[in-house]
Amino acid sequence: MTPFTVLGIESSCDETAASVVRGVADAPPGKILSNIVYDQTDLHAAYGGVVPEIAARAHAEKLDVAVAEALRVADLSLAELDAIAVTAGPGLIGGLISGVSCAKGLAIGANKPLVGINHLEGHALTARLTDGVAYPFLLLLVSGGHCQLLSVEAAGVYRRLGTTLDDAPGEAFDKTAKLMGLGFPGGPAVERKAEGGDPARFDFPRALLGRKGCDFSFSGLKTALRVKLDRLRAQGPVNERDQADLCAGFQAACVEALSRVSGKAMALFRESHPQIDDPVLAVAGGVAANKTVRSGLEAAARSHGFSLVAPPLALCTDNAAMIAWAGLERFARGHTDDLSLAPRPRWPLDETSKPVVGYGKRGAKA
Ligand code: KG4
Ligand code: ZN
Repeated sequence: MTPFTVLGIESSCDETAASVVRGVADAPPGKILSNIVYDQTDLHAAYGGVVPEIAARAHAEKLDVAVAEALRVADLSLAELDAIAVTAGPGLIGGLISGVSCAKGLAIGANKPLVGINHLEGHALTARLTDGVAYPFLLLLVSGGHCQLLSVEAAGVYRRLGTTLDDAPGEAFDKTAKLMGLGFPGGPAVERKAEGGDPARFDFPRALLGRKGCDFSFSGLKTALRVKLDRLRAQGPVNERDQADLCAGFQAACVEALSRVSGKAMALFRESHPQIDDPVLAVAGGVAANKTVRSGLEAAARSHGFSLVAPPLALCTDNAAMIAWAGLERFARGHTDDLSLAPRPRWPLDETSKPVVGYGKRGAKA
């Protein structure tokens, strides 16, 4: 039961983050000693989405500042760390190279072990860092690039129960915001606009709900939104009420899909783990910051006899505390990497599950 202190570094998308976490891998929760996140929203806003080259350069400029700040807030020196963990994938290759290079330099300079982390594992284990959730548990990962239901069987053992066949929900939120001119990032903007809107005014499709299995599809929702918006625009200017009703309808359809498919996964999890009296559904990823998503999942979990564990909002979106904790768990199990650690733009958590046909331009992201 040795406590470890681990520095985490995250730069896989558009957050430059560093954090120090202390804890015992087998006795979570952990303690976040610092959690520095520099987001790049201002740099990408003009383009309506993340520009990979701009992101990579911004990471390279800010990573050392984030690490120095994380150590300063934690009141620790590099010498006092047990290991340095870094996101090695999946994500944008330029950002991953910046982060992995920074971590390698620190590891050589301070003579500390290096641990490469799958970004999705960081999200997956956040419920252990924050709430000390025990293995096994069910995880819904909903972000800008992913939508997966995973049975987290034990440390490092993931079984994928379902995934999206096309877009991720965060992507659908971002595209909705872009179509309606609500700004970037789209998720929080759509959520704000949906407040006070009537979710029943427009009829949005509920894809795949009648189908067996736990897969999702969000591309139809995005198309439906575009068609409805075009129709409204053909009739005259789209007013505030129209926008609010569209956002509310779109959000409600997303929440229903997430809740109902998670319900199917909860039934499967129960069947395969009959010995567990108090099963947990943990939710992670940026879309888990959405209050309507959280309350929909809360109700679904309750009706299936599960407890929902949702991390605080700041730990739903990308951060380095989750990378430090995942690194701490890996390091405690004896996993370290040498300087051949290579960034992996695509890196599924469950390497045994088949890639989904049609997902992404170059095959399954995860
Ligand atoms: O986990 P994350 O920070 O990065 C990825 O690994 O993708 O998730 C970012 C995604 C974006 O698509 C963003 O629009 C979405 O999460 N998001 C939200 C909300 N906050 C962030 N979506 C819906 N409602 C929100 N409040
Ligand atoms: Zn993420």
